[in-house]
Amino acid sequence: MNKIGVIFDLDGVIVDTAKYHYLAWKELADDLGFEFTEEHNELLKGVSRVRSLEILLEIGNISISEEKKQEYLVSKNEEYLGYITKMGADEILPGASELLDALDNVGIKYVLGSASKNAPLILKQIGLFDRFAGIVDGNSVSKAKPDPEVFLIGAEKLNLTPKQCVVFEDAIAGIEAAKDANMISVGIGDENTLKEADYNFNNLTEVPSDFFEKLATLN
Ligand code: BG6
Ligand code: MG
Repeated sequence: MNKIGVIFDLDGVIVDTAKYHYLAWKELADDLGFEFTEEHNELLKGVSRVRSLEILLEIGNISISEEKKQEYLVSKNEEYLGYITKMGADEILPGASELLDALDNVGIKYVLGSASKNAPLILKQIGLFDRFAGIVDGNSVSKAKPDPEVFLIGAEKLNLTPKQCVVFEDAIAGIEAAKDANMISVGIGDENTLKEADYNFNNLTEVPSDFFEKLATLN
């Protein structure tokens, strides 16, 4: 069997923070006087905070100064922090804890590969911070997903080659990044949306118990 390692995205894979991002962005859109729907919010999944603001402003057809943008990035994050500082272990998505336990049991290492600058705080809130062999987040990268940088740094932290890494992602931008990094990609969520992924599951409870063993033999 060959050695493999796992890189987990955070938002939408380990926890459902999209609802809090939505509420915080919607507050800004309300202030700016345009409608921001949950469908619009789908466009922000997996992309950086700065890019999210740009998309939001495009939706509202609003053009503002760089200074104003910085101001909105800060106020949106303050609003978002209000939600995530109330999070607890009960918000870990079904199957996530069990999957980490299963990986620990067979000695497969895993790291985090997230676009979020709040990733360490969220992991601490839900009690999973110490479980990861490394954390790559929005503070450690210069290029956001779909650029593969976040996952390539993850592979370095695992001390593995990209081909030995398995990426769990819920966003199209993340699957694209994993593929560009030459890694095995697992789409978590709607199979049609994530059809580019090598494997698809609706959620982490569906990952078969022999999944990693099989991958290690194929690899
Ligand atoms: C990603 C989310 O994980 O993190 C995006 O899917 C979000 O929706 C991005 O914009 C950045 O998050 P943060 O916490 O740095 O604003
Ligand atoms: Mg995600």
